[in-house]
Amino acid sequence: MKVFVSRKIPQMGIDLLLHEGISPVIWNEDRLMTQGELIENAKKTDALLCMSSDKIDKFFLNACKHLKVISQYSVGYDNVDVAESIALGIPIGNTPDVLSDATADVAFTLMLSVARRAFYMHKKIINGEWSFSRPTVNLGIELKNKTLGIFGLGRIGLEMAKRCKGAYNMNIIYCSPSSKPVAEDELKAKRVSFDELLLQSDIVSVHCTLTAETKEKFDLSAFRKMKKTAIFINTARGIIHNELDLIEALQRGIIWGAGLDVTSPEPMRSDNPLLFMDNAAILPHIGSSTVEARNAMAKLAAENIISGLRGEELPHLVNKGVYNI
Ligand code: DGY
Repeated sequence: MKVFVSRKIPQMGIDLLLHEGISPVIWNEDRLMTQGELIENAKKTDALLCMSSDKIDKFFLNACKHLKVISQYSVGYDNVDVAESIALGIPIGNTPDVLSDATADVAFTLMLSVARRAFYMHKKIINGEWSFSRPTVNLGIELKNKTLGIFGLGRIGLEMAKRCKGAYNMNIIYCSPSSKPVAEDELKAKRVSFDELLLQSDIVSVHCTLTAETKEKFDLSAFRKMKKTAIFINTARGIIHNELDLIEALQRGIIWGAGLDVTSPEPMRSDNPLLFMDNAAILPHIGSSTVEARNAMAKLAAENIISGLRGEELPHLVNKGVYNI
């Protein structure tokens, strides 16, 4: 059996595949491949281990309907046409849980960086602008006892909430499709409507999945409902906020600051105004970029491939209906 691996992953995952007698065919070029190249390569193998940047849409799935399993090296799978994969009977796996700490750390880093204008002040040193202290200029804000509003309280949102409670005794509110007893019991978190989240939060942190409902949920009308002193953080998917609206909200002082690990589009252009603002902090989608998370993701991704090729249910299946057809 062969699996096409669309980007080099940690050796731990490759070793697991080899141990099972599965031959990985790894894309070794240091560039994004086209969908044509992905199809051409996946056609020659029994399984695919892919990235969230690969387009696993209707066209791809029908061109590669022979695949016994597709294992995605990410927790998000908004790049996959789930309904079509179910119709074609192709199981799809992902890598949940193991990147929650790493991603929550990035959300926390961004929150703190925006609150203290850290990225902007760092740039000032590089630009030779570290001169003398001005007691009223470039002041940050403190986070103690503030209200954190989590939009989409899943595994990553819960980790962010724990960090904020522990470090700053924040009051936690959240907006999610269902209530979250663990967060309510352990952190005294309170479920609120979307509007209440916007109105009450000092920090809004986005941790939901990208769906038709969450796409551009944070637009100018949402930013207008937020406090003028609020910070907006997004480590989920860039398209959940409207980037032009966010730029306007920051430029006009509608909100205080923003920290993004995800942008729309990705990669962000190097002349994007957000990169030059004193109240923004931008990272290049590094949520899961730790040795620990990436190794654990490689293990889960390999386990999904192994189970799929054995004809067993995937341990981390995302298209639940696939075995019922
Ligand atoms: C994920 O796992 O979804 C990360 O955001 C990488 O795409």
